[in-house]
Amino acid sequence: MNTCIQRRISAAPSVRFAAAGPCPSNAAVRRVCVAVSGAPAWLASLVLLALLCGVVNVSAQAQPLAPAADRVAQAVRVPLPQARFAIGDNPAWAQPGFDDRAWRLISTSEHWETQGHEGYDGFAWYRIHVVIPSSLKTGSDWPERLRLQLSAIDDADEVFLNGTRVGKTGRMPGDPGGFEGRSQALRDYLVDLQRGLVRWDMNNVIAVRVYDAGGAGGLHKGVPSLSVPRRAEGVLVDLSRPRHRFVGADDVQTTVVLANRFPVQQQGELHLQVRDQASGRVVLRAQQQVGLAADQTTEVDLTLPARPGIEASIRYVDVATGQAFESALVVPYLLTPSDPPGPALHGAQVLGARPGTPLHHRVAATGRPPLRFSAQGLPAGLVLDAASGVISGTVPAAGRHVLRLTVDNELGSATRDWTLVAGEQLALTPPMAWNSWHAHGTSVSAALVRDAAQALIDQGLAAKGWSGVHVDDGWQAARRLADGSLQGNERFPDMPGLGRHLHQRGLQFGIYSSPGATTCARYPGSLGFEARDAAVWADWGVDHVRYDQCSYVEQLPARPTLEDLQKPYRQMGQLLRQQPRGMVYNLCQYGEQKVWTWGAQVGGHSWRTTGDIQDSWADLLATGFAMAPYASFVGPGRYNDPDMLMLGVIGSGEARATRLTPDEQYTHISLWSLLAAPLVLGNHLPALDEFTRGLLTNGEVIAINQDARALSAVRVLERNGWQVWVKELEGGARAVGVFNMGPRFARFEVDPALFGRSGQRYQPRDAWRQRDLPARSGSLAVAVPSHGVALFTIR
Ligand code: GAL
Repeated sequence: MNTCIQRRISAAPSVRFAAAGPCPSNAAVRRVCVAVSGAPAWLASLVLLALLCGVVNVSAQAQPLAPAADRVAQAVRVPLPQARFAIGDNPAWAQPGFDDRAWRLISTSEHWETQGHEGYDGFAWYRIHVVIPSSLKTGSDWPERLRLQLSAIDDADEVFLNGTRVGKTGRMPGDPGGFEGRSQALRDYLVDLQRGLVRWDMNNVIAVRVYDAGGAGGLHKGVPSLSVPRRAEGVLVDLSRPRHRFVGADDVQTTVVLANRFPVQQQGELHLQVRDQASGRVVLRAQQQVGLAADQTTEVDLTLPARPGIEASIRYVDVATGQAFESALVVPYLLTPSDPPGPALHGAQVLGARPGTPLHHRVAATGRPPLRFSAQGLPAGLVLDAASGVISGTVPAAGRHVLRLTVDNELGSATRDWTLVAGEQLALTPPMAWNSWHAHGTSVSAALVRDAAQALIDQGLAAKGWSGVHVDDGWQAARRLADGSLQGNERFPDMPGLGRHLHQRGLQFGIYSSPGATTCARYPGSLGFEARDAAVWADWGVDHVRYDQCSYVEQLPARPTLEDLQKPYRQMGQLLRQQPRGMVYNLCQYGEQKVWTWGAQVGGHSWRTTGDIQDSWADLLATGFAMAPYASFVGPGRYNDPDMLMLGVIGSGEARATRLTPDEQYTHISLWSLLAAPLVLGNHLPALDEFTRGLLTNGEVIAINQDARALSAVRVLERNGWQVWVKELEGGARAVGVFNMGPRFARFEVDPALFGRSGQRYQPRDAWRQRDLPARSGSLAVAVPSHGVALFTIR
């Protein structure tokens, strides 16, 4: 057994468990190291119990960890399944004495819009009446706090216990800083019992004031409850924002946060177990004692193998009570090879643009800087900036203009044909963009948008074809000018200037509005000002418009016809086409009335097919994987849009890592590429980590999305926990995605008949690893982690 332990003294005010640095590794015997370092003087008593570093054979030692729930008796809970409910807003409703008998009872685990308040956005109150039994406190090892768990609330809330405020999440309209919604955050409030707010064994009133800016409204995830927490419930192994640093080809150093959220000292043990799902072996076990002061946060650094199928579980066990809490982590691994230093051209090989309109296009290329760009056959009216690779000017007369693009650096040159199709068709390949919504919500500003644009360039994304910068909801001023023109608000003082800034960099300027009087976040929409808005956007240099139904539902009859739903979209489609610039048009009405069958007819280039995506496996099933029946509606300039990419660090206000596992993230972008879906990022770009950069910069995966035939993959197999999707590519090649939908690492043999190569010799290439596999005529064998993918091109 090889032990790798380092002990360090640090001046940091918290415990720190740090990696010992990579152990030497070789193929036969892998070593994985965890080390403990510390610590300020008060921690000198921290005792290292045991540390293993080496290979542990599963047959001798591995037992799956019992889930925490098996080991811990749950604290006694008082469920709060119902509340009295009223829409509106009144401070008197916080008071316990208020007579709410006329209010109706509703469930506290379903949105209010599903309970008779359809379409209502704005303020509303819940009043929960509950007798709080003093018996809650018996048996508790920490009877000083009452824990109020209120599930998730759409969007912001303020909570009162018997008239006194005990918690708040997000910001209300009118609060300093303006409204901020936190619809997915779990509300977990601790009430200090020494404040004497609780009336034991008597009726208490918990009043919840909610503001919903749009969407379904109110409490909506699980049944709320009251409990007296156990002390160890305060310890959290926080995997919401792990930091990963890849070390060589084989290892990743992962830092996770261990937090004591309660104001009491904690003493426990941390148990780490790392399992390789491919071999079924436990490859590491380690254990150490930890002490956490009140409200203390510390970091745990682990060095783990970085390859498909590695899972780590970290369990905290409270020394005094034996209560245990476990968190699991699927370890990330890199597949995308780094770009070679020699020059290379990337991105779509075709671009559609309207004759006589302005063009700003950034040639996508990599290679050691400085790069120099040149073009043969550049039509009159267009210029190419040799240093930046930006082509700008006016689109020539209708026709196919084939340019020969070259990029050089000191190591050589790369050349490729690129076709500018001057005509009425736009978006000949799916848009690739960043959108502000999931990163900044309604706190978006011009400065943040410029930062994102710069990051697209600096992080190497623009060099692979990411070129759109889309401002979503929240840019609009509350009032129109006297002539009816919509303006940017104080965070967007110069909209045309922002457009110019993006165009100078060869990026596309996207904007957001609604056919309703207001947008989903209650900013002014385009209702009644459609023509003016289209003209103003064209004037500002807008290249992409996202038109979101939102409050337009108020204009619709109770049973809208197809024509009712199409009308506002057709109107804006026509108006956009009348402008002296090409604007790509995205319809967002959540798939109503089979929009995929008519979106293109009303002028749309893409259309949202579902409701809003979130970062979960269930959401991938409900969005991307649900596209199978609609594949035939996709083609150049017309795309199903299963919503944005939930990759990287997302979230306005509280940024956190996507909850998708690394394998689910590979699946997400592979599937969207196969579907020819718009690739729209929603993450914090300046904070791009190595894993996410690898996901977003794989030229061969992007090439599947940007293929000039612009077809959607077709699902050719769905059986025994596997799905196979096949997409026809330019020149007769195919892209094949093999998805493991099951809960375990698994192996599968893909019959070549599924991708049209039955009885033929074919050449498979692993698209993620950018590696040819041996040519063959038999089946294609894959080994894929749960929810992961193997993605090939077949020639
Ligand atoms: C939703 C839309 C989101 C975002 C939001 C802005 O309707 O689906 O993607 O644009 O509105 O308020």
